Amino acid sequence: MNMERKKIVAGNWKMNLNWVEAYDLVTAIKEQSKKISGVEKLIFPPFPYLQMLKVIVKDEPNFYVGAQNCSEHAKGAFTGEVSAAMIHSAGCSYILVGHSERRAYFSENNEQLLAKIKQALENNLKVIFCFGELLAERKNGKHFDTVQDQLTQVLSHFPKDKIHSLVLAYEPVWAIGTGETASPQQAQEMHAFVRKTVSGIFSPEIANTVSILYGGSCNAQNAKELFAGEDVDGGLIGGASLKAEDFCTIMASF
Ligand code: 13P
Repeated sequence: MNMERKKIVAGNWKMNLNWVEAYDLVTAIKEQSKKISGVEKLIFPPFPYLQMLKVIVKDEPNFYVGAQNCSEHAKGAFTGEVSAAMIHSAGCSYILVGHSERRAYFSENNEQLLAKIKQALENNLKVIFCFGELLAERKNGKHFDTVQDQLTQVLSHFPKDKIHSLVLAYEPVWAIGTGETASPQQAQEMHAFVRKTVSGIFSPEIANTVSILYGGSCNAQNAKELFAGEDVDGGLIGGASLKAEDFCTIMASF
C-alpha cells in the first residue's frame, strides 16, 4: 500500500440478489461503513438497481456506484443493451471493462473493450479495467506475458489526458470464485509488474498515480495481508461483497 495513491474497495455483485436483497445489503453497508474513511467505497450492482442504490448512498462521502458493463455503442437499435450515457444519467461514476467473465462467456475482444472504454470516457465515467491470466498460463510460467499483452493491447490506445479516469484490477482467473487466492507475494509481484508495464506505456509518474486493485477470492480474512503489498491499492471483491460485514471489514483492511 502506498499512502499517496487512492485506495479503493469495490464490490462486484455479478448477477446476484433481488431488489429487496439489494436494498437491504446497501443499507447495511452504508451504516456499517460510516466510520471507515480514507478509502473509496464502490459497488457494482446489476443494472435494474443502479439508480435506486445511488439515491441511498448519495450523501455518503467517498461512496460511489458503478455498472458491471456498458454497450460499445453510443445509442440506437441495440435491443437489450445499456449505454454509458444512460449509466451516467442514473448517477453512476464507474464502469467495469474487461472482466474475465465477460471475456470468457461473452467473447469480448480488445476491440470491444476499447469501444466500451471510449463510451465510458466520453460520458464522464471512470473505468476499472480488469485483466489476469488463466490457470494454465500461470502453470506454464506465461502469466507475465499474458498480463503484459492484455495491458499493452488496450492501454496503448487509452488517452493519456484521461488517465485520472483509469483504475486497474488484476484478477487471476484461477482465483475468481474458487476460494484459491493469490498469495500476498504473488499479488505484489504481479502488481509491481503491472506498474512497470504501465510505466512503459505512459510514464513512471503516471504509473505511480494509477491505483491497482487485486481481485480473486479476496475476503475479510485475507484482505489485510494482500493490501499490505506496496503496489496493491485495494480490491475488487466478488462473493465477499455480498455480505455487509465482510465487505466493510475488507474496506477497513488498510
Ligand atoms: P470473487 O471475489 O468471488 O472471487 O470474485 C472476484 C471477482 O471476479 C470480482 O470482479
